[in-house]
Amino acid sequence: MRLAVLVSGTGSILEAMLDAGLPVQVVGADRPCRGLRIAEAAGLDTVLLARSQWTGAPDADGRTSNQGFEREGYSRELAAALHGRGADVVAMAGFGTVLDSSFFAWDGGRYRERVLNTHPSLLPAFPGWHAVRDALAAGADESGCTVHLAIPEVDAGPILAQRAVPVRHGDDVTTLHERIKAAERELYPATIAAFVNDLNF
Ligand code: GAR
Repeated sequence: MRLAVLVSGTGSILEAMLDAGLPVQVVGADRPCRGLRIAEAAGLDTVLLARSQWTGAPDADGRTSNQGFEREGYSRELAAALHGRGADVVAMAGFGTVLDSSFFAWDGGRYRERVLNTHPSLLPAFPGWHAVRDALAAGADESGCTVHLAIPEVDAGPILAQRAVPVRHGDDVTTLHERIKAAERELYPATIAAFVNDLNF
């Protein structure tokens, strides 16, 4: 069994996966980021499929927008790139691009029920990109993380594992997110290991 990990940011969860000895074959990213550099330093195969290459023409300020983003083509290309590097199972670890159904349907559904995600809240509470901020804003006294099978709907899909952490007096987004990430660094690698074990590769 060979694992692909998708990153966009710090990559601390990728580091935890490597420390746990998961069989990471390839690391994919949608932008240059520390996670990609960690993969390179570990001697892993990497794929940088920049969102900007899949975005409509830049506006007058030279910026590209989400509006022109060709999500379907991007998703298909990423599936092909990961498969071309031998990935059987895909683990998103802070990946900043929502993959559409063409990723899961690619090559007759090769990655259907083979994509995992970790999310920094106790789903179904606080889906979306600002889960930590939203938990604080709601005055929650606990939050946590959820590992789930990914489906084309964002932050949905069967839940495989969850772990709660307390929200402490005086927490801000950084301190609460770091407490949640500490939980993710334990829970996600362990859940992936159990998941691939059950697949019987
Ligand atoms: C993690 O908290 C992960 O749950 C979150 O990004 C962080 C990645 O941390 N993912 C999402 O919010 C996706 N919706 P890292 O870059 O240090 O590994």
